[in-house]
Amino acid sequence: MVLLRSKTTSVFLLIFVACYSCSPPEEPIKCSSENTNCTITNSYGAFPDRSTCRAAEVAYPTTEQELISIMAEATKNRRKMKVATCFSHSIPKLVCPDGQEGLLISTKYLNHMLKIDVKAMTMTIESGVTLRQLINEAAKAGLAFPYTPYWWGLTIGGLLSTGAHGSTLWANGSSVHDYLLELQIVSPGGAEDGYVKVRRLKDGDKDFNAAKVSLGVLGVISQVTLKLQPLFKRSITYLTKNDSNLGDQVASFGHQHEFADIIWYPSQRKAVYRIDDRVSTNTSGNGLYNSISFRPIPSLELGSIRTLEELLEHLSYANGKCASAKTITSKLLNTAYGLSNNDDDFMGYPVVGFHNRLQASGTCLDSHHNSACAWDRRVNGAFFHQTTFSISLFKAKSFIQDVQKLIEMEPKAMCGVELYNGILMRYVKASSAYLGKQEDAVDFDITYYRSKNPMTPRLYEDILEEVEQLALFKYGALPHWGKNRNLAFDGAINKYKNAREFLKVKEVYDPFGLFSSAWTDQILGLKNGVTIAKEGCALEGLCICSEDIHCAPKKGYYCRLGKVYKDAKVCTRVTSKINICDVS
Ligand SMILES: Cc1cc2nc3c(=O)[nH]c(=O)nc-3n(C[C@H](O)[C@H](O)[C@H](O)COP(=O)(O)OP(=O)(O)OC[C@H]3O[C@@H](n4cnc5c(N)ncnc54)[C@H](O)[C@@H]3O)c2cc1C
Ligand SMILES: *[C@@H]1O[C@H](CO)[C@@H](O)[C@H](O)[C@H]1NC(C)=O
Ligand SMILES: *[C@@H]1O[C@H](CO)[C@@H](O)[C@H](O)[C@H]1NC(C)=O
Ligand SMILES: *[C@@H]1O[C@H](CO)[C@@H](O)[C@H](O)[C@H]1NC(C)=O
Ligand SMILES: *[C@@H]1O[C@H](CO)[C@@H](O)[C@H](O)[C@H]1NC(C)=O
Repeated sequence: MVLLRSKTTSVFLLIFVACYSCSPPEEPIKCSSENTNCTITNSYGAFPDRSTCRAAEVAYPTTEQELISIMAEATKNRRKMKVATCFSHSIPKLVCPDGQEGLLISTKYLNHMLKIDVKAMTMTIESGVTLRQLINEAAKAGLAFPYTPYWWGLTIGGLLSTGAHGSTLWANGSSVHDYLLELQIVSPGGAEDGYVKVRRLKDGDKDFNAAKVSLGVLGVISQVTLKLQPLFKRSITYLTKNDSNLGDQVASFGHQHEFADIIWYPSQRKAVYRIDDRVSTNTSGNGLYNSISFRPIPSLELGSIRTLEELLEHLSYANGKCASAKTITSKLLNTAYGLSNNDDDFMGYPVVGFHNRLQASGTCLDSHHNSACAWDRRVNGAFFHQTTFSISLFKAKSFIQDVQKLIEMEPKAMCGVELYNGILMRYVKASSAYLGKQEDAVDFDITYYRSKNPMTPRLYEDILEEVEQLALFKYGALPHWGKNRNLAFDGAINKYKNAREFLKVKEVYDPFGLFSSAWTDQILGLKNGVTIAKEGCALEGLCICSEDIHCAPKKGYYCRLGKVYKDAKVCTRVTSKINICDVS
């Protein structure tokens, strides 16, 4: 940085900065001076409402002892707090402390492996440990954590707090918190406790079901103990079929294969079934999953992909999107989405390999040389919304059929989603966690274009909105706590039968509400305002439209009823003048 002063080297420095800026994902926390006057955002650089969050200070404890003293001081001063992680990969505003004067407690350096007990098959780790570390360290000891999200870039504290999962209907399901044996949580306390209370909770303890999925409002999880298994091998085959009987297949397929999931391309009328099971360790194969979606992508390429997508949106050129989607899908299928039989080449199914090499990936975390993760905001990368919800296994068929009816009416409506690799369907099981899944369910992950301009509607705006409302309101789906747009959380808390129990525990653990914010109060039903009614609000999912102004009337988008789900209210492009007067 000294170089900055020299004029002759400034060009050189610029180049250096440009390259450096494209390496690993950007720090989500930025401070104007050393650890004070900070802003925090998520890894996409934008919360659903596009606001910026501020905090007066960030602290980086490196041990539980340091964490305790930081929290004691802050509690004594009745300071608002939130836990931040080195990634901040959640989409909603969970990480923002209330007001501008809050304290962020980062788990970036609270990332030590504490103990692996090979005999008992347990692992005790600090909460800032990443999924990648967890998987690698377990494998070194000959152990495996069976079901996890597919993306390395999450911390154990963050993924537990939002109820993150992989895919299975077997054993205790795919949620990481359902393999938690113990956790230690540091919460605010009274003067008599020295202003902090450290609680060690284990399976069977009264509050364990609250602490397993806590949205960060009970205090800071300092360490957790997980249940592992002996490392095993899996055999994976992707099988492509048409989607005519997807609804009939969805429940049984989930029971047939331990790691089953389905990628659905509704406009292409295709479903890709992941046939994925354990096999004996002596089955030959050293397969690797290096997901193409999570590989480093050259910044220039990202920029041109985005520019093309913006152009197609601008021209409302659905055929262009459909053609691109087909090309991308066939490329992904030909390359098995990034599976290889050894480290490099895909030569055919099945791909057999050790679990730790197949469950999750994320090589873009190590990006360098002008490449980045697809959504990196420093290059003109992908910018999208993610609508992610789980629908009871018994209702998934009807939901799928309703979406298929919409596609019959508007065949090209999902081409835009297919540019983001379609709808990922994964299995989850009912959990004892108060804010965990209430029933065995299918989780649908839908990613779609988000304009840089919040007032710009997207292609097939109405269909995407209708699918979202179908799921959440007709089928009572539960939104993923770490994803989604505001409207998904409207009334969501009422879908949890033990929500009240959760709130009681919150009262005890954080009596002063220091870890609560407007957003967490809103999603927990303690405050109104999850949705925000204003001009154009429905376009960003900040509201469900009730007036035309919530859409984009100047651009021809009006608030209308759904096509299949008549209770849906969606922003529909009205081309004929007659329809504009059709306000029944
Ligand atoms: C590319 C990508 C892929 C993903 N894949 C999956 C997937 O396969 N399955 C899935 O279910 N989800 C997936 N997600 C979503 C992800 O699981 C959640 O968004 C997760 O919460 C992010 O973890 P994080 O470590 O970044 O936590 P953050 O987003 O930083 O934090 C989440 C919340 O947890 C709280 N918190 C964090 N650490 C602690 C702690 N130690 N104590 C108390 N509270 C804490 C924070 O305050 C915040 O409220 C994915 C996200 C991305 C970006
Ligand atoms: C805090 O940072 C902002 C920019 O992010 C700056 O405008 C402001 O002056 C800073 N305040 C202090 C007290 O440093
Ligand atoms: C599932 O949960 C039950 C109860 O918490 C536990 O006894 C059991 O060991 C768990 N099973 C697995 C496979 O983790
Ligand atoms: C879909 O595949 C099934 C067989 O799996 C076949 O019977 C059916 O005709 C196909 N439908 C279409 C529309 O191609
Ligand atoms: C593989 O292991 C199984 C037991 O797990 C055994 O029955 C089988 O004979 C072994 N096969 C080979 C080829 O070693």
